[in-house]
Amino acid sequence: MKILVLPGDGIGPEVCNEAVKTLEVLAAKKGVSFAFEEDHAGGSAIDAYGDPMPDAVIAKAKASDGVLLGAVGGPKWDHHTGAMRPESGLLKIRKELGVFANLRPVAVSAALADASPLRPEAIAGTDMLVVRELTGGIYFGEPRGRSGEPGAEDAFNTMRYTTPEIERVARVAFTWARRRGGRVCSVDKANVLVVSQLWRDVVTKLHKEEFSDVELTHMYVDNAAMQLVVRPSQFDVILTGNLFGDILSDAAATLGGSLGLLPSASVGGNVGLFEPVHGSAPDIAGQGIANPVAMLLSTAMMMDELEQGDIANAIRAGVDAALNEGLRTADLHREGKTTRVSTQEMAERIREAALASLV
Ligand code: IPM
Ligand code: MN
Repeated sequence: MKILVLPGDGIGPEVCNEAVKTLEVLAAKKGVSFAFEEDHAGGSAIDAYGDPMPDAVIAKAKASDGVLLGAVGGPKWDHHTGAMRPESGLLKIRKELGVFANLRPVAVSAALADASPLRPEAIAGTDMLVVRELTGGIYFGEPRGRSGEPGAEDAFNTMRYTTPEIERVARVAFTWARRRGGRVCSVDKANVLVVSQLWRDVVTKLHKEEFSDVELTHMYVDNAAMQLVVRPSQFDVILTGNLFGDILSDAAATLGGSLGLLPSASVGGNVGLFEPVHGSAPDIAGQGIANPVAMLLSTAMMMDELEQGDIANAIRAGVDAALNEGLRTADLHREGKTTRVSTQEMAERIREAALASLV
């Protein structure tokens, strides 16, 4: 299987490096072989090619079986605007791969309950999957622009969704709900936005026609933000649009104590894109203190998608083992309570335990 690795910027290369090493040792034991190819994305691609996501990289991605992406962006490229921003490169590859469904699972393990910003009793039982629409909505809507004289400028984006765009991502959410707790909460702003009124109508109709065995509820996004911090355990699958999903998934991610834990898989096209939810964290890049868990769990999601469930489960078992043993990177370390380790040490322990659990 061909895997394209796009380490990107900041801590991206450090965590991607650990992901590749992990796949190499597990694949060797399992007798599967991965051919890794590496290229630039985001700021590093601006430096190398003058383009945050050249067509040649997109072509490699399309020719691969899966794409692992670290993170993009950083102060070095902050003066860039429009299509030259590192983030635009990320949006381009998502769009080009057609990965319209972004899956962001948030489960709070018992070992980390006391790392949560919420009280342990508030967090208990939290296990949700955010299904975020990824290739439409206000991120991509036209028209968009900025015009007028300085001092009297006008700027606008457009939030729009078509029926098929809503339907296909809703189908992903309902399908996941059947494999999980059987409940979907669709989050919108239908009390204000017409685009949300269509969203709600389409989700309701699809539910009635094809997924009436799944429980469907609707929630306004402002209430959902509150419910996520008041009683996160009420959610099973959250289905929402691109912008609301971006915001809610960061809030959900931190329930477990650190953004450094949350993986994601972007699917729906021929090739999946797997990236941690966290950013490039330029302030801590190169210091060996980044948490590799989100990247490793994203890699596990890729293995699931490529029907390598044993490797996926081994990685997850490795992560659980390292956390249960009290190993923590700087983001989660608590003096006197846990053992502080580097990115490499954390990943190394995860690999050992993963290898031991691999049958
Ligand atoms: C994410 C990120 C991206 C997004 C940025 C980097 C473009 O925040 O994956 O959540 O907004 O989608
Ligand atoms: Mn985000």
